[in-house]
Amino acid sequence: MTVDASRGLVRIYEVGPRDGLQNEATQIPTATKARFLSLLAAAGLREIEATSFVSPTAIPQLADADELLARLDRAPGVRYPVLVPNQRGLARAEAAGADAMAVFTAATDAFTTRNIGMTVDESLATFEPLLQRTHDLGWWSRGYVSTAFGCPYTGRVDPGRAVEVALRLLELGADEVCFGDTIGVGVPDQVEALTGLAVAAGIALERVAFHFHDTRGTALANVSAGLRAGVRCFDSSAGGTGGCPYAPGAAGNLATEDLVYLLDAEGWDSGVSLDGVLEAARFVAAALDRPLLTKVGQAGGWDPLTGESTGRPAAPA
Ligand code: COA
Ligand code: ZN
Repeated sequence: MTVDASRGLVRIYEVGPRDGLQNEATQIPTATKARFLSLLAAAGLREIEATSFVSPTAIPQLADADELLARLDRAPGVRYPVLVPNQRGLARAEAAGADAMAVFTAATDAFTTRNIGMTVDESLATFEPLLQRTHDLGWWSRGYVSTAFGCPYTGRVDPGRAVEVALRLLELGADEVCFGDTIGVGVPDQVEALTGLAVAAGIALERVAFHFHDTRGTALANVSAGLRAGVRCFDSSAGGTGGCPYAPGAAGNLATEDLVYLLDAEGWDSGVSLDGVLEAARFVAAALDRPLLTKVGQAGGWDPLTGESTGRPAAPA
């Protein structure tokens, strides 16, 4: 599609290699993950969450984080944050050559207790020295606020609570906060309300990101609401894979290909090639031995000059 990128920049933060794969039961070879990361960078993605330095008992799929990161073929200008839960994880990430970190807590104790074995307050106390150290090292850092719209254990979440946790993360030194709709229950009005509260609390829009799950089909509508409210960073996963093992029913991250289609068609500049993302999405679907079921993964892009679909593999002869 011809892109008139006149509306401004939007960051796409790719979570496929981490959030997308973490819940997969079949162990994916490290070389396959490395290839997936290369395809994502080749597609123009500039922020790719590569893996997690969490307990291998909690997330067996990402037990190869040390090896994956050490052998990573870093594309110039690409940031590869890694998820870190504690000091042990940060020491591993440092040894493997990381230079960007994401810590993760939530708006509800019920969720963090199951996910990381800590209350929200305990998690913030754990992150304080981590964010201090990464600040000293000059790393970029992000703090996730999961269950920002709803919790699988306690129901609807007060947006004020999500903003309160975000403020604490920023005070501790996180460069950015990302509100996660972990179980995909949020709707556009809530996105607008949450963003408004964050701004009213003094959080700069440049430091806000959203992580939507398409569990109930609201992810792209939520992105639109975020854009209208002034947010310019959204998470997505090529191929729409993913979900948190501690969030029952949390199917499907927003697919990067669906997000790129929307941004292109509305004239936002993400720097990402839809054809390139489709290649990465097909690669990961094949690696997981399942069909690519995302909307744009099936339909392809669209060329408004010819009316034809784009970016689909040639039909077998
Ligand atoms: N890397 C590797 N191993 C780690 C680790 C890390 N960052 N942190 C803890 N461990 C190991 C400990 O050494 C211990 O091993 P052992 O059983 O062989 O002695 C075991 O994990 C348990 O450690 P403990 O400190 O008792 O913590 P815990 O059992 O309360 O687990 C977390 C806490 C945070 C480490 C764990 O819950 C976790 O990794 N959660 C991540 C969940 C996740 O990634 N969810 C998806 C993201 S949304
Ligand atoms: Zn997710």
